Amino acid sequence: MTPPSTTTPDAPQKAEAFMLPVVPPPLPEPPSAEQIAALSEEVRELAKQKNAVILAHNYQVPEVQDVADYTGDSLGLSIEASKADAERIVFCGVHFMAETAKVLSPEKTVLIPDTRAGCSLADGITAQQLRDWKAENPGAKVVMYVNTTAEVKAETDYCVTSSNAVNVVNAIPEGEEILFGPDMFLGSYVEKMTKRPMKVWMGECHVHAGIRPADLQQMLDDNPDADLMIHPECGCSTSAMEYLACGDIDPDRTFILSTGGMIEHVKKSKAKKFIVATEEGIFHPLRLAAPDREFVPASEGAVCGFMKTITLERLRDALRDDKFVVEVDPAIAERARVPIERMISITA
Ligand code: 13P
Ligand code: SF4
Repeated sequence: MTPPSTTTPDAPQKAEAFMLPVVPPPLPEPPSAEQIAALSEEVRELAKQKNAVILAHNYQVPEVQDVADYTGDSLGLSIEASKADAERIVFCGVHFMAETAKVLSPEKTVLIPDTRAGCSLADGITAQQLRDWKAENPGAKVVMYVNTTAEVKAETDYCVTSSNAVNVVNAIPEGEEILFGPDMFLGSYVEKMTKRPMKVWMGECHVHAGIRPADLQQMLDDNPDADLMIHPECGCSTSAMEYLACGDIDPDRTFILSTGGMIEHVKKSKAKKFIVATEEGIFHPLRLAAPDREFVPASEGAVCGFMKTITLERLRDALRDDKFVVEVDPAIAERARVPIERMISITA
C-alpha cells in the first residue's frame, strides 16, 4: 500500500472545551523565586483541600515537577493514574495523557491546567485514518504509541510507551501482521530490536524529530567520559541504531531509553557526563537523580511548547476553579481501556 502520510490529517474530534492547537503556543515568562515559593504553597494547600493528586511528566517545568505528588514517564504516570485514590487527578502533561488517566479512572474528576496542551505526534493520526489503515490490512494487530487520542486507542489492540514497546511487540505471537504508529522513529527502533517486520505509520513529534546530531561518534569523541542517552522518538535514534549495528559508535556508551529509563540509567552508570537527546525538561529530574554528574543536550532548543503551557499559576487556578475537566465518551473509554490495560500489564 502507499505509505500512510500524516501531512493532512482529518479535522480532529476534540472535547468541547479543548481546541488543541497544532502549533505549540509561545513559551510563558518564567516566575521569580518568590512567586514559585508562594504559588507552590497555595498549590499544596489546595491539593489537600480538594483531595487531589498532582501528576507531572518529566518534561514539565521544574517548579511544576517539584510540587507534584508523582513525576515520571508516560508509563509511570499511567500506572499512578490507575492507582490514585484521590477524588481529583490534576494532570500536568499533555491532553492525551490526561485522557488516559480519565479512561483508567472514569469515576474521578481529571483536570488539565491548560486547554492548549496538545501533542504534534498525537495529532498525526485520527481514528478515521486508523480505521482506513485497518480496512486495508484486515486481521493485522494494531500497536499504537500512548501518544494518541482516546478515539485512536479505541481502535487499537495494544498501547505502548517508549519504555515497554519492545516487550509488547515481543509478546505478540510470531506470524501476526503488525500495524505500528504513530511514531516512525520509535517504530523503526522497535522493528530493529524485535526483528519483527511491521507496517509503520509515518508520524513524528516535532521536538524529537528535530534532534538529529550530524555526527554521534564525534559527540562521543569530544566527550570521552560521557554516555549518550537517546529517546527513541528522536530523529537521530534511527541513525544511532544503524551506527550501532555497524559498530560505528560505541555500544557500551550508547543507550536508547524512555525518559524514565534515562533517570534510572544515570543512577546506575559510572559515567561522569551524559549527552542527552530528548526534550529539555528531563534535565531537572536527571540533576536531582545524579547531582554530581554533568548533563549536556545533544542539540539545543529541544523544547515542547505544549508541555510548557502548564505553569504553577495555571496549576493553582485548575485546583481552585476545578478546570479544565477532561471528558472521554464512556463508549470510547470502554474500548480504549483494553489496550491501555494491556500496556500497563506489560511493563519495561
Ligand atoms: P516518555 O516519557 O514515556 O519517554 O515519553 C516521552 C514523550 O514524548 C511524551 O510526550
Ligand atoms: Fe508530544 Fe513531542 Fe511534546 Fe512529547 S515532546 S508531548 S511527543 S509534541
